[in-house]
Amino acid sequence: MTTFWSWYVTLLTSATLLGLTWLIFATRRGQRENTTDETVGHSFDGIEEYDNPLPRWWFMLFVGTLVFAVGYLVLYPGMGNWKGVFPGYDKVDAESNTAFSNGEPGWTGAHQWEKEMFKADKEYGPIFAKYAAMPIEAVAQDEQALKMGGRLFASNCAVCHGSDAKGAYGFPNLTDQEWRWGGEPATIKTTILGGRQAAMPAWGEILGEDGVHNVAAFVLTQLAGRKLPEDAKADIEAGRQLFTSNCVACHGPEGKGMPAMGAPNLTDAPAFIYGTSFAQLQQTIRYGRNGKMPSQENLLGNDKVHLLAAYVYSLSHKPAQQ
Ligand code: HEC
Ligand code: HEC
Repeated sequence: MTTFWSWYVTLLTSATLLGLTWLIFATRRGQRENTTDETVGHSFDGIEEYDNPLPRWWFMLFVGTLVFAVGYLVLYPGMGNWKGVFPGYDKVDAESNTAFSNGEPGWTGAHQWEKEMFKADKEYGPIFAKYAAMPIEAVAQDEQALKMGGRLFASNCAVCHGSDAKGAYGFPNLTDQEWRWGGEPATIKTTILGGRQAAMPAWGEILGEDGVHNVAAFVLTQLAGRKLPEDAKADIEAGRQLFTSNCVACHGPEGKGMPAMGAPNLTDAPAFIYGTSFAQLQQTIRYGRNGKMPSQENLLGNDKVHLLAAYVYSLSHKPAQQ
């Protein structure tokens, strides 16, 4: 904040506090000690006001808030550019002499977060590092690792994939055997670390309405093994030809998918994430789809992602019973 605004805030805040202090003492002066029957003389529709002193507890409460405000403004930032003197906030960690990432001392919410992350990393980092040095399959057999992975999943992944990891519309199920990008332990880790961007082109303009209709009918009945709605009419043979000439490059000759480009298997209806109704399929093919799995590298780092990859892997490969 510029010096002008810093002073503006500081003066306004101090003036308000002083004003309030004056108010409470000024109006208290000269008042009688005890309750009386006297009124202040106003009358509103026959309602009158007794001229009695503030209750003591109320007065003390008011004074208390003033004292609190002053104490707070000394300890924490609040007065313009004043950083506060809350102890322990000159470094992230005094022992290792680590400075805050913005190079400034003083309490802020971000600094408190940094401090707590540092403490947690120091405490749990070695545990994460231990697992990060183990192969993912082995970590996936370790009960403690899976518990930690489960907690990481709940706080970072469940918003999209669901707390049971079974996915939702637009978000894949991570507990089944079907993988859009590949289910090898290392591939799962690559997916989580770097994120993924799927690109299913829009076919509406290229194939026309009839083409979309026919190829959707082909996918629905011949690949996904579902039935067409009763009133739908489509030329499935024409759809097959369109599929062969336009779709196999990504989805494979039998429609079984190609993990290298994230093209899903179209022969496994429950694994579709954008729905398998005839209307939803046409929608997908007409307008295309661009599912995005966000990269976790900068958010969580290698070691936590390693643990998460093991957790995800374990969901479809139940740990051996001991
Ligand atoms: C903002 C939503 C979102 C969050 C948060 C998210 N994901 Fe994803 N994830 C997706 C989407 C969408 C896809 C599918 C991308 C596509 O269409 O190919 C995906 C795909 C995946 C895949 C690949 C599945 C396959 O079939 O190959 C894995 C593994 C995965 N996510 C794990 C995770 C983990 C672990 C986390 C937590 C660190 C996480 N995701 C957090 C949205 C999310
Ligand atoms: C350039 C590669 C590419 C081509 C060509 C392609 N697709 Fe796709 N398709 C994808 C990708 C990648 C996805 C995954 C999109 C996502 O996850 O957001 C996908 C998703 C789909 C889905 C949705 C599956 C689900 O999970 O709900 C359907 C249906 C589909 N494609 C049908 C077709 C048809 C029919 C054609 C030919 C007309 C076609 N695709 C051509 C790459 C392709």
